[in-house]
Order: sequence, then structure tokens, then C-alpha cells
Amino acid sequence: MNTLTFPVLRQLADGQFHSGETLATQFGVTRATIWNAVKHAESLGVEVFSVRGRGYKLPKPIAWLDQDMVLKTIGAEREWFHVEVLDEVASTNTYLMQAAAKGAPHVSCAVAHIQTGGRGRRGRTWVSHLGASLTFSLLWRFDCGAAALSGLSLAIGVALMRALNELEIKTAKLKWPNDVLVDGKKLAGILIDLQGDLDGPSAAVIGVGINIDLPKQVLEGIDQPAIDLQHASHLELNQSVLLGTVLKHLAEVLRNFEQHGFMGVRDEWLSHHAYHNQSVRMLMPDGRNVEGVVTGIAEDGILLVETALGLQRFSAGEISLRSIN
Ligand code: ATP
Ligand code: BTN
Repeated sequence: MNTLTFPVLRQLADGQFHSGETLATQFGVTRATIWNAVKHAESLGVEVFSVRGRGYKLPKPIAWLDQDMVLKTIGAEREWFHVEVLDEVASTNTYLMQAAAKGAPHVSCAVAHIQTGGRGRRGRTWVSHLGASLTFSLLWRFDCGAAALSGLSLAIGVALMRALNELEIKTAKLKWPNDVLVDGKKLAGILIDLQGDLDGPSAAVIGVGINIDLPKQVLEGIDQPAIDLQHASHLELNQSVLLGTVLKHLAEVLRNFEQHGFMGVRDEWLSHHAYHNQSVRMLMPDGRNVEGVVTGIAEDGILLVETALGLQRFSAGEISLRSIN
């Protein structure tokens, strides 16, 4: 952590050159201190052009997250939300799980400009980039126990689809259990961490990562086909509007989930499934592959697949779905 890195990046966010000397004067430090702050930004994956005689410059302007804009976009429901904008954090899920354990209120949201240890399911890595990704988590407290939350992560996928549709992104699909795809490439992921007793009360930290406009080399560095909103829609999307829209739909879907569980959105989920009635391969935790055709989804989010051995039921935990083209 370098406390000057983000203040310097905010100065550079206009995409113009700023000399080391001007920045040093602005912050009352030496040019070497500015240089260290820039080096730390680079260690976080931020590209900073440094040109002798002209100073530092970002490849393109950055739109910072704007809490007021997020709340305004949420609309009437905004009084429920506690939105915290973080500059740099390892993982918003880890951060919010710790805050939840210390009593953070229901509907707390932590959103980060940069995650240094973004997590996917099963210890995998989630890649993000300053100004080019949306990475946030939402804490939702339930009266019921964690045992009653099966299907929650699928329901969250429905909220993402509603938000994307509202923003005119119509080509997105869901992949069981909870990836968002466009043209078969991953646009967004969902990670849910749970806290509390099996029979209640419990709390879910719902983490969402959405690619907005990743630099080409970052997108190509991801170890499975990935896409961002820029390529999926060509619309200029403001991060704060995107976050506000997603939060609004999350709250709506979560309230519905409290009443009806996954059944409240099951048909809608199925209507978005990229592989409904298609041949798939299920990758099992013991290394086996099971092939079949997706025929439906049970009320608790279990995937139903017709296989050579008959109808089989797959629960998300340790299992991955791959399409067979
Ligand atoms: P499944 O959910 O079917 O088990 P998955 O491969 O999508 O499979 P997840 O744990 O859901 O696995 O997601 C983590 C994976 O997502 C990473 O291993 C990487 O392949 C991919 N990934 C990481 N960052 C990004 C990103 N920004 N955009 C798209 N995909 C990403
Ligand atoms: C996946 O596809 O496996 C889930 C990816 C979830 C990524 C988000 S980004 C915000 C939150 N913080 C994390 O560390 N992970 C989730």
C-alpha cells in the first residue's frame, strides 16, 4: 500500500501529462516520492506512461466510482444501502466477510477500484483492472439458515440479466451455476460466501465481477475465453450507473428470494440458460466426466441432465459444466 498512489492517479485521471515536479509541489513531497507512488500503481497493473521532460500520463482517462451517482441510480430503494468505495483491497468478498463478522449492517456494499487478490470459485483468481472492471460485494442478512440458501447464486444471475437488459445489453446468457456469458465468452462471475448457522440466522456476501473495458492484453491473459461490455455491446457504460443498476435489481431479486427461494425466478433463469436442451459435459470433483443433455433445473438450483444412465442431478459446489459443440 502507498498512500499517495491513488491521490496521484486521481490527478492523472484526466489522461493528460502531469510533470513529476508539479505533482511533487501539489502534494508537498519530493519527485522521488511521486515516482514511488507511480511505481506502486504499476505494481497493481496500472499502465503509466513516463516521458522525460513531460512527466506522467495514463493511456486513457479514468472514470472513478461516484457514490452519489450509484445511490441516485439505485433510486427509491437507496436508503437501504450502505455503499463504501475502496481504492485498493485484496478482495471485496474477504473485506465484507470480515466486516459482516464485526456486525456490518444488512445491505452493505463494498466496491473496489482495484482488487489485488480477486477470488473466483474454489480458490481460482478473478482478474480485474483499474477503471476497466466492476468488482463489488453486497452483504445480505437472512433470517433463515444457510441450508435454505441453495439456489441463491443462480438467483443472483437473474438479477445480473435484468440489469444488463435494462442497460440494453441483450446478448448475455447464463451458464450454470452462475457465470454470465456473451457469445460463449465469460463476461461476469458471481462468488457467494456464507456466514452463520445452518438453521439461521445467516448472512451472504455476494461478490460480482463484471468486465467493462479491459485492455487487450489483460483480456487475452485470462485462461478461458472472456469478453467485456465494450466488446459485447459497444455502449459507453459508466461504472457507477452499472453498479447502481445491478444493486437495484439485486435488492429486488433478494427480496423475492426471501419469500419464494429460487422457485421465484426459476423459469426466468431457465429462459436465460445458454445450454438449455444442449449437450454438455459435467466435470466431476473425482476427475470423471459425465455427458448428457440439460433438461431442466430443480427448485434448489440442482441441474438436471439426461445421461446414458438416465436423469442425473448435479449440485453446483464442486462441479463445472462445459458445453459440447
Ligand atoms: P465453473 O464456474 O464452471 O466451475 P469457471 O472456469 O468459470 O468454471 P470460476 O471459478 O467460476 O470458474 O471462475 C474463475 C475463472 O474465471 C478463472 O479460473 C478464470 O478462468 C476466469 N476468469 C478470471 N478472471 C476473469 C475475468 N475478468 N473475466 C472472465 N473470466 C475470468
Ligand atoms: C467466478 O466466476 O468464479 C466468480 C468471480 C467473482 C469475482 C468477484 S469480484 C468482486 C468479488 N470479490 C472477489 O474476490 N470475488 C468477487
